[in-house]
Amino acid sequence: MKNVGFIGWRGMVGSVLMQRMVEERDFDAINPIFFSTSQTGQAAPAFAGKPAGTLQDAWNLDALKALDIIVTCQGGDYTNEIYPKLRESGWKGYWIDAASSLRMKDDAIIILDPVNQKVIDDGLNKGINTFVGGNCTVSLMLMSLGGLFANDLVEWASVATYQAASGGGARHMRELLVQMGQLHHEVAAELADPASAILDIERKVTALTRSGALPVDNFGVPLAGSLIPWIDKQLDNGQSREEWKGQAETNKILGTTSTIPVDGLCVRIGALRCHSQAFTLKLKKDVSIATIESMLAAHNDWVKVVPNDREISMRDLTPAAVTGTLSTPVGRLRKLNMGPEYLSAFTVGDQLLWGAAEPLRRMLRQLA
Ligand code: HSE
Repeated sequence: MKNVGFIGWRGMVGSVLMQRMVEERDFDAINPIFFSTSQTGQAAPAFAGKPAGTLQDAWNLDALKALDIIVTCQGGDYTNEIYPKLRESGWKGYWIDAASSLRMKDDAIIILDPVNQKVIDDGLNKGINTFVGGNCTVSLMLMSLGGLFANDLVEWASVATYQAASGGGARHMRELLVQMGQLHHEVAAELADPASAILDIERKVTALTRSGALPVDNFGVPLAGSLIPWIDKQLDNGQSREEWKGQAETNKILGTTSTIPVDGLCVRIGALRCHSQAFTLKLKKDVSIATIESMLAAHNDWVKVVPNDREISMRDLTPAAVTGTLSTPVGRLRKLNMGPEYLSAFTVGDQLLWGAAEPLRRMLRQLA
């Protein structure tokens, strides 16, 4: 059995990973060793009833070098600090990482096996031993729209995202919920009175939103009842870093030889953990909606084609329906007025599952 070290297993993505590994009995196949950046020596968790001794020191290179596989959800700072030292020391084990730091390195593969198992296999054959989870919007897009890319139908993709608070982290989710609660509290009495005037209620909510009294330490501005049309850093070309990742990571995951343009606007909204995305796709040729639907549906076990029907879309194609599941539905499929090669699509996916933890879990399973 391989010795597998886990770092950052207690954080939000790490916790989802542990939960999925228990559900899939992945711990049966490995010897888990849990690391901590701050609580070395305390009792390690016993996931799936498997005792794992005490927590090891996540900064101890010798302890890390003894591992066959390292899985980290600890974040980019940890990766930047430890990974180069480990590799310089000659460690040849497998490094599986949720952070973005190593994603675009030539000797790292972005893992999304239902989409790029061949790229993963080629990498393994070449001796690549660094595997990194993709950006959540990119992974979720490819899980939902993979059938179009696999059939080489996409000339370009333009996207508007509706990204959940969880993409920022656990504290962002809490902040959103506190903002929601404060806004409700401000007008709870008026809301309980059916005779109150809605515009008075709205004015009070807007005044509180603008007052500076809502907590904004994490998002920087109020999100509840609003949105934020910028995610991640500003680049010199006017893109956000999140928008830049769309094309860069999509093409790397697919291993394309000529770049498929992917661009758009990334927006934070008040959903909790599901990212949604609205696409305009330019297809390389006119293909019927029925053919498109069957290509999409056949691509992997998790995509679900939602008929372009009002009731069904409202029920099945929402964060409320998808949160906490591995389903990656795609719907609102129709040809646009621009012409028969222009397709609209709307996708939804759990940002913490296929958007973060699941590709790591499945890569570990392959290696173990
Ligand atoms: N950067 C993403 C977001 C999450 O902020 O929603 C991580 O892939």
